[in-house]
Amino acid sequence: MPLPIAELHLHIEGTLEPELAFALAARNGVSLPYADEDALREAYRFEDLQSFLNLYYELMAVLRTERDFEDLANAYLARAAAQGVRHAEIFFDPQAHLARGVEMGTVVEGLWRALGPSRENHGVSTRLILCFLRDESAESALATLEAAGPYLDRITGVGLDSAEVGHPPVKFREVYEAAAALGLHRVAHAGEEGPPEYVTEALDVLGVERVDHGLRSMEDPALVERLVRERVPLTLCPLSNVRLRTVDTLADHPLPAMLDAGLMCTVNSDDPAYFGGYAGDNLDAVRQALGLTGERLRELARNSFLASFLEDDEELRAR
Ligand code: ADE
Ligand code: ZN
Repeated sequence: MPLPIAELHLHIEGTLEPELAFALAARNGVSLPYADEDALREAYRFEDLQSFLNLYYELMAVLRTERDFEDLANAYLARAAAQGVRHAEIFFDPQAHLARGVEMGTVVEGLWRALGPSRENHGVSTRLILCFLRDESAESALATLEAAGPYLDRITGVGLDSAEVGHPPVKFREVYEAAAALGLHRVAHAGEEGPPEYVTEALDVLGVERVDHGLRSMEDPALVERLVRERVPLTLCPLSNVRLRTVDTLADHPLPAMLDAGLMCTVNSDDPAYFGGYAGDNLDAVRQALGLTGERLRELARNSFLASFLEDDEELRAR
């Protein structure tokens, strides 16, 4: 029996496995510039975040209808459930779809067809987090939040993702203020490739409740002290860090040092179709490469539920 966990850092578009990408391409009459699944997998050699994002956005071309988003989410939920995930807080990137002429309603309602009955169908409760693309403008983020207006009953929070360096959190102050006024939870990617200052800014300017990645916080001892004191959860993604070369090998991952420092870490999969594993695979990989004890693994599992946006004790105890 895998350890029950909550997954808090998962891009639904990053769960698009090659087989499903080709099936959707055929269904929608979209041609992909790869001969077959193996040729596509060959392209999964990334130099950095941007080289991954190029492929990630390219493959989204196959996602066109509500049914496509429903199938994508059901495929993720089935895999996640098999690896012990009991609760998933799922990111999606509406701007990448709106730019291709796919409407907000198609994305949200399509995802919801899978997420709504997920507890019954997969034994996984879910939340949906709308991410703004930080390499797009602040005005575009505001327009995206406005377009999400009719669907806010489906959306728990907002996040910030895509190319980090050169796009500091402060650029999104206004849209995060608007999201807070709507009662939405707030998270942001920070300190993945960007400097520790972006983590501080995400906390101070955007008011985030969790930091996605936050790896480079370790370069600033005062920031680490603050994150420990304020019990700010970090959603780490170890296999992603290796594939995107923010750490050299899993054995070099700072997770043990971060736990030793008292940081509230969780382990997640980010874009599992691209990075070689789902949430349970990430936990297995760090257990093996870093020799984490059973106690440490239970701490990570406990943290994942405590850091989630599950609302009350009753909901938490039901896990
Ligand atoms: N979008 C999907 N995966 C991402 C990641 N790891 N960092 C930033 N943006 C992303
Ligand atoms: Zn991410």
